[in-house]
Amino acid sequence: MKIVILGSGRGSNARALLQAKKDGKLANTEIAGIIADVESAPILQLGKEFGVHAEFISAAPFKTKLDDDGQKRYIERIKALNPDLIVLAGFMRVIKKPFIDAFNGKLINLHPSLLPSFPGLDGIGQAFRFGVKITGCTVHWVTADLDAGPIIDQSPIRILPEDSVETLAQKIHAAEHELLCKVVAQLSQQNG
Ligand code: GAR
Repeated sequence: MKIVILGSGRGSNARALLQAKKDGKLANTEIAGIIADVESAPILQLGKEFGVHAEFISAAPFKTKLDDDGQKRYIERIKALNPDLIVLAGFMRVIKKPFIDAFNGKLINLHPSLLPSFPGLDGIGQAFRFGVKITGCTVHWVTADLDAGPIIDQSPIRILPEDSVETLAQKIHAAEHELLCKVVAQLSQQNG
């Protein structure tokens, strides 16, 4: 199963996938590329570190979405990599219809809350401020409705009285790394 990872920032989830692959835990996969919409994003440095194609593709002029030209650029480049699975791992842009249709059934997203609660930006902060006692992370199929596609798997995290938003974020990120690797491994087995 050929995988392309899209991200915008730190890339800790991309790192978890690349490390799992390196450790032989994702035997049926090939990580074909990393694409970022932020030129300075640390996720792009993982390319060199793990020997994987990594590329910045401009999504200008918008900050949180892709305009028509941006979508075209992304669709063309991703098609050239011919992936079976596209993993949105901290890709902070809304993906809309032509993009979704181009890769129907191949796009998954990682989100730092137990969807359908707390979709959109800052899922960790939203849950913390609301005062829920259990939050977590979700991997789901991407559809045209933001953070609302069919859920593949989730991991719960209990928010303890002594937690701050920072300690909660650390716990959620650790859970995300495990969950994403587990889901990708499962999908790769189903992929044959
Ligand atoms: C992750 O927590 C992911 O769930 C979140 O961005 C972070 C990326 O971290 N994604 C969203 O909030 C999408 N709505 P990373 O760059 O270290 O993998």
